[in-house]
Amino acid sequence: MNIGVPKEIKKHEYRVGMTPHCVRTYTSHGHTVLFEAGAGLGSGYTDEEYERNGAKLVPDAQQVFDRSEMIVKVKEPLPAEYELMKEGQLLYTYLHLAANRELVQALLDRKVTSIAYETIELPDHSLPCLTPMSEIAGRLSVQEGAKYLEKAYGGRGILLGGVPGVPRGNVAILGGGVVGTNACKIAVGIGANVTILDVNARRLAYLDDIFGSSITTLYATEANVEFVLQEADILIGAVLLPGESTPKLIRKEHLKRMKPGAVLVDVAIDQGGCAETSRPTTHDQPIYIVDDVVHYCVANMPGAVARSSTIALTSVTLSYGLLIADLGLENALRNHSPIRAGLNTFQGMCTHQGVARSCGLTYSRLP
Ligand SMILES: NC(=O)c1ccc[n+]([C@@H]2O[C@H](COP(=O)([O-])OP(=O)(O)OC[C@H]3O[C@@H](n4cnc5c(N)ncnc54)[C@H](O)[C@@H]3O)[C@@H](O)[C@H]2O)c1
Repeated sequence: MNIGVPKEIKKHEYRVGMTPHCVRTYTSHGHTVLFEAGAGLGSGYTDEEYERNGAKLVPDAQQVFDRSEMIVKVKEPLPAEYELMKEGQLLYTYLHLAANRELVQALLDRKVTSIAYETIELPDHSLPCLTPMSEIAGRLSVQEGAKYLEKAYGGRGILLGGVPGVPRGNVAILGGGVVGTNACKIAVGIGANVTILDVNARRLAYLDDIFGSSITTLYATEANVEFVLQEADILIGAVLLPGESTPKLIRKEHLKRMKPGAVLVDVAIDQGGCAETSRPTTHDQPIYIVDDVVHYCVANMPGAVARSSTIALTSVTLSYGLLIADLGLENALRNHSPIRAGLNTFQGMCTHQGVARSCGLTYSRLP
């Protein structure tokens, strides 16, 4: 199969759809990878590395799209890319179509087949291509929180791990899923006092087993949330109700009870955020301050560590992409339920129930 990797054109998107090692795997299976020159630079990979691993470099996105049967990307196509997509082409990338009616229409009009990373689903309902980004955001949340605790950014001027004779900082994590667990790992590693709250008792039991006496687990009642936010130097929002907006566990009046200079890292901002005062920010301007609480609410945190994110993302997308390339789309759809779950559009039809519902379209089940 001819597989194309264009450069991402979204602002501040430095990830790329394949690392040189991915290219090597595809080419060793007999496929051709057409790689847009310079597409890997944001993640620290040179064109020479791609060529050495078997990629054919092409000068622009137009040629990548013209000559490829499957396009492997990171982010959804932007309007400038719509006209490059052609009938029958397969697009394999993050799409988040439920919130993007215009893109759905472009895919349907152009009869592009699309497989969205975020809807690839395993039989246990986990989403393998979303997990690595939550792992990254979770670990990064403590790193960012620690930075903005520094005095120069408006923080309390606290060193999370303390030093002999100086108390450690307090990290409270709301939500003990993938983001929360990964935040917990880093916060424990750095030597902070860590408290993690969840409404799922089994999740709390799991965290208690894994981290033992190095953390405190609490059921996420309103009273417990109020208790931990008063003590926290860093408060991490990592709650998710799948398919719904994040419950506002932190109300505006709560901020007055927090320590001046405490940092709220609201990772869940992409679903609306855990605090009434959270609003999405960007890597250009990641923080703002309300009632002396520093808010960090970057909606695409993994973009800050593009190289790590590219490696983490492509490590999981490679296996499904390779199955599609090796088996051909129809066989891959017939034989692999995670890939079938990933199918969002096919030959001008919307084949994902959630997307169809959100966009007011007719849902077409695959024959
Ligand atoms: N900002 C970013 O760049 C970025 C990156 C990755 C993920 N995220 C977001 O982070 C959030 C968490 O993702 P995840 O992968 O950890 O989800 P997850 O499903 O693995 O974990 C969510 C946890 O929240 C818990 N929860 C639900 N309601 C709660 C409540 N009222 N109080 C306390 N806990 C509650 C659940 O029991 C679950 O354990 C999501 O909104 C996700 O989209 C953001």
